[in-house]
Amino acid sequence: MLVILLGSEASIALPIDGCPGYKATNVQDHGVSLTADLHLAGSACNTFGDDLATLKLKVDYETDTRLHVMIYDADGIVYQVPESVLPRPISNNATSRSNSAIQFSYQEAPFSFAVTRTDTQETLFNTSGSNLIFQSQYLNFRTSLPQNPNLYGLGEHSDSFRLNTTDYTKTIWNRDAYKIPDGTHLYGSHPMYIEHRGKAGAHGVFLLNSNVMDVKINQTETGEQYLEYNVLGGVFDFYFLAGPSPKDVTIQYADVVGPPAMVPYWGFGLHQCRWGYRDAFEVAEVVYNYSQANIPPGTMWTDIDYMHSRKVFTLDPLRFPLDKMRAFVSYLHEHYQHYIVMVGPAVSYSNYSAFRNGVQQDAFLKENNGSIYKGAVWPGVTAFPDWFHPNIQHYWNDEFESFFSADDGVDIDGLWIDMNEATNFCPYPCNDPTSTSASSSSSLPGFPSVLQPPKKRSLQTRHTGDKLGLPNRNLTYPPYDIANAQGPTISERTLNTDLIHANGVAEYDVHNLYGTMMGSVSRNAMLSHRPSKRPMVITRSTFAGAGAQMGHWLGDNVSTWSKYRISIAQMLSFASIFQVPIVGSDVCGFVGETTETLYVRWATLGAFYPFYRNHNVEDARPQEFYRWPTVADAARKAIDIRYRLLDYMYTAFYQQTKSGAPVLNPLFYVYPKDPSTYPIDLQVFFGDAILVSPITTENSTSVDIYLPDDIFYDWYTGVPVRGKGKTVTLSDVEFTKIPLHIRGGNIIPLRTESANTTTELRKKGFNVVVAPGQDGTATGHLYIDDGESLEQTSTLEVQFEYTSGKFQMQGHFEYHAGVSAETLTILGQSGQPREILTDNGKSVEYEYDGKTKVLTAQVDLSLTSWSEVNFS
Ligand code: NOJ
Repeated sequence: MLVILLGSEASIALPIDGCPGYKATNVQDHGVSLTADLHLAGSACNTFGDDLATLKLKVDYETDTRLHVMIYDADGIVYQVPESVLPRPISNNATSRSNSAIQFSYQEAPFSFAVTRTDTQETLFNTSGSNLIFQSQYLNFRTSLPQNPNLYGLGEHSDSFRLNTTDYTKTIWNRDAYKIPDGTHLYGSHPMYIEHRGKAGAHGVFLLNSNVMDVKINQTETGEQYLEYNVLGGVFDFYFLAGPSPKDVTIQYADVVGPPAMVPYWGFGLHQCRWGYRDAFEVAEVVYNYSQANIPPGTMWTDIDYMHSRKVFTLDPLRFPLDKMRAFVSYLHEHYQHYIVMVGPAVSYSNYSAFRNGVQQDAFLKENNGSIYKGAVWPGVTAFPDWFHPNIQHYWNDEFESFFSADDGVDIDGLWIDMNEATNFCPYPCNDPTSTSASSSSSLPGFPSVLQPPKKRSLQTRHTGDKLGLPNRNLTYPPYDIANAQGPTISERTLNTDLIHANGVAEYDVHNLYGTMMGSVSRNAMLSHRPSKRPMVITRSTFAGAGAQMGHWLGDNVSTWSKYRISIAQMLSFASIFQVPIVGSDVCGFVGETTETLYVRWATLGAFYPFYRNHNVEDARPQEFYRWPTVADAARKAIDIRYRLLDYMYTAFYQQTKSGAPVLNPLFYVYPKDPSTYPIDLQVFFGDAILVSPITTENSTSVDIYLPDDIFYDWYTGVPVRGKGKTVTLSDVEFTKIPLHIRGGNIIPLRTESANTTTELRKKGFNVVVAPGQDGTATGHLYIDDGESLEQTSTLEVQFEYTSGKFQMQGHFEYHAGVSAETLTILGQSGQPREILTDNGKSVEYEYDGKTKVLTAQVDLSLTSWSEVNFS
């Protein structure tokens, strides 16, 4: 193992003066792995907890592109993210160290480490600028970075896609973030970043830790750029991903946290929701109005309104009675439409079956004195399921089984889970959950910190089991003051962080897992309820790896242009960096009302979110698409495109579930060597072939878009557009239209026409569109399965290839789609062929438009076997 002196950056100021760092001893180097002991190298500084005297270092070259570096307590008591929540990737250690694209090196004293690229020796991560701090309630590591780094990730937030790198703090702590304010932390935790260095490549750093943290990105007084982790518990568990392309990093990250789960085909249809539907009649009327307006809302949702007094697993007997709900769901199913309802984690603390069953199963979180912990959410006083309790799955399955029973309950097709950060309306300390409006916060808003009343300290003393957490920590007011946007304590508007779960872990350590755990227990409950169907679970709160089981909507946004714009960046972070690709924001905005033009534009932009749902808040004006003629027109046109593209989307999504290659791509994923693409977050590639460039300002019919140096084709006309690596202005973009381009080099399977439901859509044939690249070739894929089964017995997986004069289709054709590739459309043809022949010698009729250079051939290729078309 190379011992290096990382001298030059050592001038960076220590983040905390006087902490002695650690010294590495007993280094055991086994080639593809290394272990060492780390001893505190001087007197403890005990700044934010007690320094741990002895640590362990474990380094594994897990694959040729993945390095795993762990620094943890020698006694193995400090909390670590349980494998049951995030299973660790299998390390095949198949590589020799020299084959690894990245190398680990270290300095013994004070201990620091670096990760470098093997081929170029470029340093990717280097902690020598400050001493490692590992205390009972505070971990600190700082890495130096190049100037003006291109950093992406570290969510969930609503900041720019490429992160600010000056005086920027990204707190990671799940919270109910009404109106998703910029610059704060939101509902989910994803301590993962990608750094892109242009021609020198991209790499990723994932810190597998669920504790609250502030990640600070800034320059030192002498101008050195750094990124610093300030973490209030757990261990340093780093995965370094070598890239070298940004897309490679995303694929490598999928190997760590798991690729996303497949969702049903219908899940890509349009979803309609709102908070405030009065009763079952109104919900039925909305479905009726959509169909009258000829807009297909594939899936209808209801919010908490359907519940009796807002209690989960109940129906309002007057407004949403069971007979009407069953009749409504049957109607939807007969018309190939679907139904989703919201379920929150908080169970009303009252005498009703879901609560009684939870008590009987002992499934709720408890206070340290053994009584059920009480908070306040929609129904008033509530108990909260303990997702770590051994009975929890049983309890949740039973509630699903009885409430959502197809025989005598409300038969849902998918699930929406909300408020699962977990949100608690009762301000801390929640002494009286019956009065949720009273603020018992002791802080004095607006007064300087010296005048704020001293914080109360609650000390926890207990002996924990293995890796369940150190005893004697302050679990409510940790000594390091995290930048929590929710208030002065990390327990603010959530569960008390000093609660201990059934398995012994403290909520302090596992708060950020609560939402994802609810998601996976709920997914399992859906599976137990309908064992053969793919569940669709949409959650508000997420942790790293959530995408392997659920999708995410982006929470309580606002009907403003800025939230419309930022939705693109947020979606990119989730789909392309965090591996949660079923994602979208509330189309037209959740809170507030806005102009018709914003509604119009959002209806079209939403058609390019993987998850397309119109939803708004109860006191705002209704915003279903049919309410304004222009919005209805825009939605119809956008849905027409989305539905024709649905199999292309489904195929791209399927590929992400297999390989991790993202369904949505920022421009720099497709053009990683073009620096102009690095900051772009108002354009996005759907798949990697359709460039979506929405209008981004009020009342505007023009937009400046960046077209990389490549050949593109206008979606609407097929006319070739040569990108020159420059910004171009698109003018006269109608209000109901969204600018789209097909990137040369791609083949896109389009349904020949749209349909009213995704079921009907599957009966339409294909028009395979070939968009040749600059070299005249193109490739593409098509994946089809039955669209809903968990396990597929047969699938259709086709590769399309086009080289000048020849089109080929080959692959596996086991699943019979019952339709053919009716037409083949070749873009950018400078002349027409003499003849077009299929492989069986049949001459094919075609049309050619010299003005647009589009050739359309009536090939009628069966999707059951290999075929070829020759152009002479
Ligand atoms: C908060 C959710 O974010 C929002 O979408 C929902 O409408 C309300 N809860 C009411 O359930």
